[in-house]
Amino acid sequence: MAFKMTDKVTWVGKIDWELRRFHGDEYSTHRGSSYNSYLIKDEKTVLIDTVWKPFDEEFVENLKKEVDLKDIDYIISNHAEVDHSGALPLLLKEIPDVPIYCSANGAKILKAHYHEDWNFVEVKTGDTLDIGESTLTFIEARMLHWPDTMFTYMSGENILFSNDAFGQHYASELMYNDLVDQAELYQEAIKYYANILTPFSPLVTNKIKEVLSFELPVDIIATSHGIIWRDNPAQIIEKYLEWADAYQENQITIVYDTMWGATRRMAEGIAEGIQLADKDVTVKLYNAANSDKNDVITEMFKSKAVLVGSSTVNKSIMSATAGILDMIRGIGFKNKKAGAFGSYGWSGESVGLITERLKDAKFEVVDEGLKAFWNPDKDAIDQCVEYGKEFVKKI
Ligand code: FEO
Repeated sequence: MAFKMTDKVTWVGKIDWELRRFHGDEYSTHRGSSYNSYLIKDEKTVLIDTVWKPFDEEFVENLKKEVDLKDIDYIISNHAEVDHSGALPLLLKEIPDVPIYCSANGAKILKAHYHEDWNFVEVKTGDTLDIGESTLTFIEARMLHWPDTMFTYMSGENILFSNDAFGQHYASELMYNDLVDQAELYQEAIKYYANILTPFSPLVTNKIKEVLSFELPVDIIATSHGIIWRDNPAQIIEKYLEWADAYQENQITIVYDTMWGATRRMAEGIAEGIQLADKDVTVKLYNAANSDKNDVITEMFKSKAVLVGSSTVNKSIMSATAGILDMIRGIGFKNKKAGAFGSYGWSGESVGLITERLKDAKFEVVDEGLKAFWNPDKDAIDQCVEYGKEFVKKI
């Protein structure tokens, strides 16, 4: 499959409907993904990025239907991660001397991945490449989300090839933002931001401001995953600015794990208290052990506060809760409040340990947390309801 986006630009990527896990097992892709590669035919012929290695043969074969490979003048590698560079080794077997335009870090990373002495041309922000009627301008975007990442802007067609930024793991033959289900699209876009880009939010804000300061007209944002933004592409830029700015909705998310249901009942009691105290707040409960961790992270991203619960096991906390706490430590959410709760039978360390880990993840823990002894009776559940009411007052 390939399709023409404009007179000069053809999408030559791969839609991966089967993908369910990305970055090893770190990111769930319920709706698959795509690896978007773009072929530009101006006076010069340019290929922007490739696809993941499992699809390299298919990619090269399909590319040959669009262009004689020997006619490719330049390859641009906006990002060296293997989902975009994976077909380079096979492609470059056929055209080994074609220059690869990339950032200095991109060249280092590509060399470290493939151990090939390709014809790298290192570029930095503001460097241009004249390809005929259009000019390509390179904009480094370090740490969005790798040190090598860059964007490429094509004048004339007014396309920003943004690589991972503004992308989504979302397979769709429709390929454009105005054609797909908007709820699905934004669910995947916010999940992508929450899980992958949150650690770099200050850089996101600065980079967007820098790009906007160039006052380049942008008619299309051509990402490297998911759909292409052609209808009001500014909408996703505006969303990124919102998401990068310590984003929160009027939501409290309760994440817990439970051995025999005691901590679950505590969670439900706390949720009841929250709702009694504030009818407008959205409360969502997730058992960390049977929920998708990236979906849970996305809900935490949307929240103004979170409550994390676990029963005590072996003087510690349950593994699924520990996993989520470790993830949020790395992600580095800003401006979120938190509390801890959990049931116990004898030693009862869980609430203290969760509290410590929430603080370590830079959450503002608003109280000492709540413990319940063995199976909570009516009084203990009433305490949970009361705790929920009080928690609302503290956030
Ligand atoms: Fe889609 Fe960072 O690679």
